[in-house]
Amino acid sequence: MNGCGPFTNVCRHRGARLLEGEGNVGNAIRCFYHAWTYGLDGGLQSASLAREWFPDLDKGGLGLRPAAVGVWETMVFVNPDAGAEPFAEWLAGAPASMAALRPRNAAAHAPGRLVELADVSYRFGANWKIVAENFIDGYHLPLLHAVSLADGDLMSQAFATAGRHITFYRGLKPGQRHDNRVWPVIAGVPADFGAAYIWFFPNLAIFETAASWSTFLVEPIAPNLSAVHCRFFAMPQAMDRADAWPAIPDPLPPYVLSAKGAGAGPWIDARGLHPLQTRDVNCEDIYACEAVQQGMESGSAEVGPLSRWEANLTFFQRQILDYVSPSG
Ligand code: FES
Ligand SMILES: [Fe+2]
Repeated sequence: MNGCGPFTNVCRHRGARLLEGEGNVGNAIRCFYHAWTYGLDGGLQSASLAREWFPDLDKGGLGLRPAAVGVWETMVFVNPDAGAEPFAEWLAGAPASMAALRPRNAAAHAPGRLVELADVSYRFGANWKIVAENFIDGYHLPLLHAVSLADGDLMSQAFATAGRHITFYRGLKPGQRHDNRVWPVIAGVPADFGAAYIWFFPNLAIFETAASWSTFLVEPIAPNLSAVHCRFFAMPQAMDRADAWPAIPDPLPPYVLSAKGAGAGPWIDARGLHPLQTRDVNCEDIYACEAVQQGMESGSAEVGPLSRWEANLTFFQRQILDYVSPSG
């Protein structure tokens, strides 16, 4: 980052969002609106027409607001609250907690040696917390996904918590192995590795299979709408098979907001089937989340009893309550 940032992306003049997308800003950040200009250190360099309009402007107090930053594996975590708890404290040993659940003979996935195959954003017509709760719900795996996850040992699940985060592992059924056809097995990871994840509070998961390492970021858009941004990484040799992968459908089906990358096609079901007939995990999960949202909106929903495999939901809800209204 060469001493630049991170800063909140908000102009100190009238609060406009400063930059969009990605790219190189050069030597300065200039607001498109009234052309206030900030240096890479965040300081306000100039306010346009200052001599006429702001003769007494105190530029020293009008720099971009700093944000907090932390780095883990290949990922940069930015918190717009510079006074937030230190990153290492927030991480709270979650990676070690997941490592303890994984099979002992499994090497780390080490995402830094993998290549990004796909970047797909899904539309979930549901509150972001419903999406989160679906992700950490172990009870629905052998039920809603009985066919789509048929190779999984879904009746044996291990989970733990670390800080505000949740970790999880489940294997494959005895005798099942990753079939190695679409993506090659990651070096050092056994072919019978099932699925492991860390649900980072509040809205990010990293997810591992024998052949992939991916991120799942839930972005709240509206009280009843979320975008889920998934990025998929695999061994570089996966690209040798790119010709055999399904193309990105055009037009995209309504449940996909955007799709980029050679490996995006395999993650999108475009047959137009009812979601419960697709045998596609994502379609099934989107359908489930939207159904829960609809139930909640009906005014008839009540909280029912939760199974042992939904203990993660109770934990997650406690974190939300504690975060918005700390008990201690
Ligand atoms: S809002 Fe940025 S210069 Fe006015
Ligand atoms: Fe699911």
